[in-house]
Amino acid sequence: MQLPDFPWDSLREAKATAAAHPEGLIDLSVGSPVDNTVDSAVSGLNDGGNSPGYPQTAGSPELIHAMVSWWRRERGAGSVTDLNVLPVIGSKEMVALLPFLLGLGKNDVVVHPTISYPTYGVGAMAVGATPLPEDDPDHWPDNTALVWINSPGNPTGEVLDVDRLQRIVHRARQKGALLVSDECYGLLGSDADPVAPSVISNEVVAGDYSGVLSLHSLSKQGNMAGYRAAFMAGDTGVIGSLLHRRKHLGLMVPGPIQSAVASALTDTDSVEVQRQKYSHRRQVLRDAFESAGFTIDHSTAGLYLWATRGEPADDTVAWLADRGILATPGHFYGEAGRHHIRIALTVSDTDAEAVSGRLASG
Ligand SMILES: Cc1ncc(COP(=O)(O)O)c(C=O)c1O
Repeated sequence: MQLPDFPWDSLREAKATAAAHPEGLIDLSVGSPVDNTVDSAVSGLNDGGNSPGYPQTAGSPELIHAMVSWWRRERGAGSVTDLNVLPVIGSKEMVALLPFLLGLGKNDVVVHPTISYPTYGVGAMAVGATPLPEDDPDHWPDNTALVWINSPGNPTGEVLDVDRLQRIVHRARQKGALLVSDECYGLLGSDADPVAPSVISNEVVAGDYSGVLSLHSLSKQGNMAGYRAAFMAGDTGVIGSLLHRRKHLGLMVPGPIQSAVASALTDTDSVEVQRQKYSHRRQVLRDAFESAGFTIDHSTAGLYLWATRGEPADDTVAWLADRGILATPGHFYGEAGRHHIRIALTVSDTDAEAVSGRLASG
């Protein structure tokens, strides 16, 4: 299996420069949460701590119930039942393994956004399929087997509206391709638009989940990245076949984590608190970068600002490193991002507020 170098390894030099800043490193390069894990998850984890037997791959009855209720309540997917849901071991695992679990191979194309999370392409490469960065559904080839979309997007923070989602669903069905929408930032919107529409919402598919899946994660909204807790919902046939394969492969979510997820899914208040924190940091960082002459594109929701000074991204990363700030160059997410940088909102309020002073310094 031939996979590319891990992009973040190439940031070592910029990180060393930034870390040498007298006031220390402000790391805006990884979307790894810094706030505490929500209490509901911690108490669920403790309640499930005595776990001598093997967990269910499909999820415990409590978890299945919590997932079904959550999709209906939070994502407007009113027809979801037990047969439409599946827990997974963090969403990265599912992004990377889905082409393998679907049995894709060298004759298949896996479409993903032109500027996107690199693991969509990695999952395709891992099985010898062809990754194709293509945003226009009219340009998807006939042998497209799987289409990834991501809204709100990493790294752009772009949100796909209901019309756009409907057009994508329609085209994927025409092609006979499975459409999977990675919605791990779906509840981390702005104050004006707190929730991004789900591909399996009634508004988009009116209860018809054929050929469509949505993938969600608790890593960001619950500060649970360390738990590896995610889950998906949609087409019963695909969910059933994934479950069958995952049972054989031992891909089960650990019992205590299932208990934590079931508990966190009933806790809507903490998600709103976390959304507001990111909304605040988004504004503070947007103001800081705009005042320093950056242009911010999209970035209305999710965890990132997509920023440019109209120069090659590596030059901007080096300029920021001299000011003790580490950001990610846009080319990690595709050629089209080569003049942008990605700024993560996963920093403390104190660090977010320190950024403008750093950017103003010579
Ligand atoms: C778009 C996207 N999908 C999936 C993931 C993986 O998240 P996790 O494996 O923590 O659920 C990330 C992580 O940053 C992401 O940005």
